[in-house]
Amino acid sequence: MKESIQNYEDLLQMLDVLLQENTQFHWNDFYSDRKKKIPFFVSSPDENLVSYLEKGFFDSGHVLELGCGPGRNAIYFAEQSFTVDAIDSSQKAISWGQERASERNVQVNFIQKNIFDFNYAKESYDLIYDSGCFHHIAPHRRMNYLQLLHMALKPNGYFALTCFIEGGELGGAAITDWDVYRLRSLQGGLGFSEEKLRQIFKDFEMVEIRKMKEIEQPHHHFGVSSLWAALFRKGNS
Ligand SMILES: C[S@@+](CC[C@H](N)C(=O)[O-])C[C@H]1O[C@@H](n2cnc3c(N)ncnc32)[C@H](O)[C@@H]1O
Repeated sequence: MKESIQNYEDLLQMLDVLLQENTQFHWNDFYSDRKKKIPFFVSSPDENLVSYLEKGFFDSGHVLELGCGPGRNAIYFAEQSFTVDAIDSSQKAISWGQERASERNVQVNFIQKNIFDFNYAKESYDLIYDSGCFHHIAPHRRMNYLQLLHMALKPNGYFALTCFIEGGELGGAAITDWDVYRLRSLQGGLGFSEEKLRQIFKDFEMVEIRKMKEIEQPHHHFGVSSLWAALFRKGNS
């Protein structure tokens, strides 16, 4: 690797590598044992997602799921007749999702890639959904994340997010963005306050923000109260 910084992307890549060098964690290892007691290994969709459909915010169209994992929300969208692109960097997660989709006899376009390395068609999605990926995105990549949303969402499209509440039971490091680089770690996932989410996504209209409902499993919906469930809408230009 050349290790020289000549442009902005070189700088971001250096920060990616410095963080990666300091971690033993890999998503493929995480998914290698499907029987582990991990809350989101269940196959049911997020309760907030189901509620958005029940409230009529959206009911069909083209959806992109970022960091889809083994596909529980992507499969739910497909069952509701959405056209679904679901992207995740972990091959193990994608294979599991493909197996689940074929068992349920639904069509999901699973894509194994880093969300920042895929060529999204401009303004092609009615909805972008992220359940638990954003809090694993390092602060220096947040600008890319916002660019992705603006570029790929149609005018008036929705963006729905579930992410760690600061200091929550399942994770949600209460550290500053600068601390990530002092510690060279995201501490298992960043936590957010409502104010911080409003600030980050200030160019979007905030339609709804609340804590996810805690739902005891097994259940046909998923919910843990240590996550925010937020729904945003892009403007019409
Ligand atoms: C906490 S898991 C959530 C999985 C799934 N959304 C769910 O709720 O069942 C986070 C997922 O984000 C994926 N991920 C994290 N950073 C990513 C990136 N830069 N590009 C693609 N996937 C990413 C991980 O591989 C992991 O599957």
